[in-house]
Amino acid sequence: MKNRLSRILRPKTGRSLILPIDHGYFLGPTRRLEDPWKTVEPLLPYSDALMLTRGILRSSMSAEIDTPIVLRVSGGSSILSDDLSNETITTSIFEAVRCNASALSLSIFVGAAHEHQTLANLAKLVDNAEGYGIPVLAVTAVGKELEKRDARYLALCCRIAAEIGARFVKTYYCEGFSKVVEGCPVPVLIAGGPRMETELDALQTTYDALQEGAVGVIMGRNIWQNDHAVAMIRAVRSVVHEGATPREAHDLYGELKG
Ligand code: R5P
Repeated sequence: MKNRLSRILRPKTGRSLILPIDHGYFLGPTRRLEDPWKTVEPLLPYSDALMLTRGILRSSMSAEIDTPIVLRVSGGSSILSDDLSNETITTSIFEAVRCNASALSLSIFVGAAHEHQTLANLAKLVDNAEGYGIPVLAVTAVGKELEKRDARYLALCCRIAAEIGARFVKTYYCEGFSKVVEGCPVPVLIAGGPRMETELDALQTTYDALQEGAVGVIMGRNIWQNDHAVAMIRAVRSVVHEGATPREAHDLYGELKG
């Protein structure tokens, strides 16, 4: 367990930059993930872990990558559905072991129509995964209700995830984010969310989240939808692992993008 977790949360800094490319599990062929390998390959040297489904791992990744895998194992709804919370566990623990997963990720939808079902999914997954020493990352999902992302609500979600046994949690950055971290006994990482207006915004959000207690980011679209994705991931990485300020990271982005 500790060994797997330390492959993701890097021991030198205690932090992590996870690259998620699991969006297709409910969004279909998201822009820039049409050919996942083409997008991901140049970013792998700067990613501490890669988050994806077994289908894309099998069909589109090279078996030779040594980037730790965070396997997305929940799903069952699509963007066409009114209720995205109707999820189940989509991948067995045997498959996860076969895929050599370093961690498993699953969404919970607190306060949604299928709240109970998704929390029961988390409990079952933790029971199965702990037996194999595989940590579970709980994703506090809000479906289409993005306005739900306030500190009181997210603190509730993260705490419930930790109580059920998640070893780490992915949530959103929000005003008063330190309250979310304070109430959660396991490490918290933030999602990037949809493309922000500027690169500086994404770097500032990363910086603020870390200052307020996050241990890293699980940032996808703000990296791989950028026309200079390698420059962007290196800039984000400088904030996460090298203590760069948003301005310093932005200067690095400018230099690298040429
Ligand atoms: C949600 O669970 C998605 O599948 C992504 O993994 C997550 O939102 C992080 O990616 P992004 O930074 O693009 O929001």
